[in-house]
Amino acid sequence: MNQEILIAAENLKKYFPVKKFLGGKTQYVKAVDGVTLNIYKGETFGLVGESGCGKSTLGRTLIRMYDVTGGKLSYKGRDITNAKPAEMKEFQNKMQIIFQDPYSALNPFWNVEEILNEPLKQIGMPEAERRERMEYLLNKVGMKQEDLIKFPYEFSGGQRQRIGIARALTVNPEFIMCDEPIAALDVSIQAQVVNMLEDLQNEFGLTYLFAAHDLSMVRYISTRIGVMYLGNLVEVTTSNELYERPLHPYTQALLSAIPVADPHKARERQRMKLQGELPSPLNVPQGCHFSPRCPYATEECKKTCPSLRELESGHFVACHMAEKIN
Ligand SMILES: Nc1ncnc2c1ncn2[C@@H]1O[C@H](COP(=O)(O)OP(=O)(O)OP(=O)(O)O)[C@@H](O)[C@H]1O
Ligand SMILES: [Mg+2]
Repeated sequence: MNQEILIAAENLKKYFPVKKFLGGKTQYVKAVDGVTLNIYKGETFGLVGESGCGKSTLGRTLIRMYDVTGGKLSYKGRDITNAKPAEMKEFQNKMQIIFQDPYSALNPFWNVEEILNEPLKQIGMPEAERRERMEYLLNKVGMKQEDLIKFPYEFSGGQRQRIGIARALTVNPEFIMCDEPIAALDVSIQAQVVNMLEDLQNEFGLTYLFAAHDLSMVRYISTRIGVMYLGNLVEVTTSNELYERPLHPYTQALLSAIPVADPHKARERQRMKLQGELPSPLNVPQGCHFSPRCPYATEECKKTCPSLRELESGHFVACHMAEKIN
């Protein structure tokens, strides 16, 4: 891909300390544990994986909502790994987030005008211009001027998410971390919100990181997709390639679990059942994190953690056995 890199993460880590009672040793939840990733300008990078694998934490670390525990993070070539809040001010507006639960993401005591006015005030927009900007943004997300005086509880889930999106857009961002923005919405509304996000992306030249555990929807919006497992990326490739030719056994298992409408195809397809539960990130398995659940795991897999390597052009996989099993 011959494009400008917007965000680059190198061996990025985010650990959360967990205090033990009665003077025990502090343990760490290794929510993001060595992620290397480039996000290109203008793309939608889909991030999939089971609940708890670290999608939200990765996204929040990339926009520096969280401090970085280890590794390197840069934005448009500028190292922001340890940037102090004052330095981050310059980038904060460029990187925004849309949350999964649109209700809890909005202040219930503020009406839409107050919700949108706050960030505009912070970027120093003169009061006289703010009203026009708010109306413009509401219009962009398919809402009306009359909605400005309403409170979050007066809207449906889909409308609340639209307000959340308008709020993210107030400050003219370049990158938006969309953290499962449609997961809490009715299926009929999901497509509307996704279409709107795509329109906004084209109009404003936005770059998205789109976290989801619904694998069917993420395919259609993502340029590339990364599959995450216990704090690590195990496979990264273009959206079509991932669904046509998954190379990692974990991705293969995830995809085989998606229901297929065509009964002939469904019969043909081998369902691969994942053994065991997702281990706790407090107690990450030695070697390849997936090895305790992997039907192909060897002694080497149990000892050394594979890093992402480019098995085919633009198709990266972290698996010692990838050549043998595909
Ligand atoms: N602030 C925090 N303090 C301690 N542990 C945390 C914190 N945030 C997340 N974690 C832990 O880090 C791991 C990754 O969580 P994260 O929310 O990033 O997963 P996720 O992939 O977004 O899951 P979901 O699909 O359910 O949203 C989990 O084990 C979670 O309990
Ligand atoms: Mg999450």
